[in-house]
Amino acid sequence: MSIQTIRWTNGHVKLIDQTKLPGKLVYIHCRDVKTLWQAIRRLSVRGAPALGVAAAFGVLLGIKSFSGSGSRSRNRNDRKRFSKHVERISDYLATSRPTAVNLFNALTRMKAVIQRHPGADVAQLKDLLKKEALAVYEEDRTLCRKMGDFGARLVPSGGRLLTVCNAGALATVDYGTALGVMYSAKAKGKKFQVYSCETRPLLQGARLTVWELLRSGIDTTLICDNMAATLMKQGKIDAVFAGADRIAANGDTANKIGTYNLAVLAKHHRIPFYVVAPQSTFDLSIAGGKQIPIEERSREEVLGFGGRPTAPRQVKVYNPAFDVTDNALITAIVTEKGIIRPPFRKNIKRTFRPKTKD
Ligand code: MRU
Repeated sequence: MSIQTIRWTNGHVKLIDQTKLPGKLVYIHCRDVKTLWQAIRRLSVRGAPALGVAAAFGVLLGIKSFSGSGSRSRNRNDRKRFSKHVERISDYLATSRPTAVNLFNALTRMKAVIQRHPGADVAQLKDLLKKEALAVYEEDRTLCRKMGDFGARLVPSGGRLLTVCNAGALATVDYGTALGVMYSAKAKGKKFQVYSCETRPLLQGARLTVWELLRSGIDTTLICDNMAATLMKQGKIDAVFAGADRIAANGDTANKIGTYNLAVLAKHHRIPFYVVAPQSTFDLSIAGGKQIPIEERSREEVLGFGGRPTAPRQVKVYNPAFDVTDNALITAIVTEKGIIRPPFRKNIKRTFRPKTKD
């Protein structure tokens, strides 16, 4: 996989502008928090794990210009001001998009660095925060490959797979979750083909998944979202693989709008429905999917595309960006710790239980 979605380079964030794909591969250089916030909001960078990395890097952008008094006696005071400053940046970044919990988990990790080092001065804290953000980045690369290897076992030989939105390299640092499974299966020599749902309104499936799968030499067919039922009825789908933005303690899973449709259809046609997501996508503080905040986006996204109208402007529009798939519709959740099967509440808890030393 030769796609590098986001990175920290020369003191700023460099990311692929995904709003320009598949037409142009261009990069945005974010040198301040506001530019990064806007890139997140308009989906130049998107996908739950990539949002986690972006948020961690956003904190680094926000602390660049903070300078303490420099004097030793003022050290404690500076630390306090610095800590408040990090809180403020994190609160601001947290307003960018509400559903992907990876973004919030990354911010929590960054803030925890300050609590864990009560004796560190501002310069030391800056170094420690940089280390933490780079750890979030590196972990994503490792975890995606682990998930890919676990998930590849679920890819039937000669299988025809269906996916939605983009849960690939472009949604992570460089490999992907649901598409990572496909990259791993391909590397292991498995033969399979992929159907990608277009994914209205912003076409992440058509624009991003197809772009990435074709670059990787994977046999790919694009379908409109409303064709999935027919394909399943025709016996042309053997498994569905989707990513996730937030998974509740009972396994209910929020992902791109339209994922729930596929899960219902898969159940009806007795096709396995797999979710692929790292631990940072789990929100064990909430019991079920009803508590997952669902982003609603602008009516403009539904009213037109590429500058052309797709509906009369005066119509009312409803545009939720995500839906929630009930755990009962999910066959298994692939994580970096292994494959979790029902009963999800019990098995998720067991999978992520901190290991006790004896
Ligand atoms: O609105 P987006 O493009 O950020 O939505 C992304 C998705 O729904 C992905 O499937 C999800 O974040 C998982 S990405 C590995």
